[in-house]
Amino acid sequence: MSQQSHADEDPRRHYFEELAPRWDVDGQDPGGTVARLEELADQLQLQSGMDLLEVGCGTGQITGWLAARVAPGKVVAVDFAEAMLAQARRKQLAAEFRRADVCCDPLGQRCFDVALCFHSFPHFRDQAAALRNLASALRPDGRLMVMHLAGSAQINAFHDEVGGAVSGDHLPSRTDWECLLAQAGLQIRQLLDHDDLFLLVASS
Ligand SMILES: C[S@@+](CC[C@H](N)C(=O)[O-])C[C@H]1O[C@@H](n2cnc3c(N)ncnc32)[C@H](O)[C@@H]1O
Repeated sequence: MSQQSHADEDPRRHYFEELAPRWDVDGQDPGGTVARLEELADQLQLQSGMDLLEVGCGTGQITGWLAARVAPGKVVAVDFAEAMLAQARRKQLAAEFRRADVCCDPLGQRCFDVALCFHSFPHFRDQAAALRNLASALRPDGRLMVMHLAGSAQINAFHDEVGGAVSGDHLPSRTDWECLLAQAGLQIRQLLDHDDLFLLVASS
């Protein structure tokens, strides 16, 4: 799909809208996820006062944890599935939730220290457009982080197994990351791809 294609044309939006009511029950274990983040906190280097953009925030399972790490910095959490955001807003977390499609909607210009895509990047239908958009939302010394609590091989195989709208939603290979990030004016600073952690950190 082209950069101009809209969220309404993306079959994944309907897919995630449908999943939203069950996401915190049938999906990943929210408590276990936050416990794992706590273990990995040093690697994420989130500091008090940072402004953070969380992209593909879903029901806000990690948003409260992020907000506590960066306070009094702000967290803006975006997702293109309104039903996911509705669940997140009910939790009354210390974050601003906005509906936005990372592939084509404005996210702000140079206003975030960190942009975090947690368990979301493979689903972005135009990954090149998403990266350009994210790069322009970062301050000059800002960092993009793409994170999964599993390795890329497991993530890619899982999406193929689930099938349907998310079949083929993969993390790029290292070579493709380099190319996509370069198009967005970013470079890889760290790339970990272990069975239990994928972490990409990029900056300009
Ligand atoms: C696998 S879920 C993960 C949700 C959340 N990060 C979590 O860990 O619970 C992926 C999320 O990305 C969102 N998403 C997919 N494509 C998107 C896009 N183009 N723009 C914004 N959000 C998107 C989906 O609506 C969904 O909520």
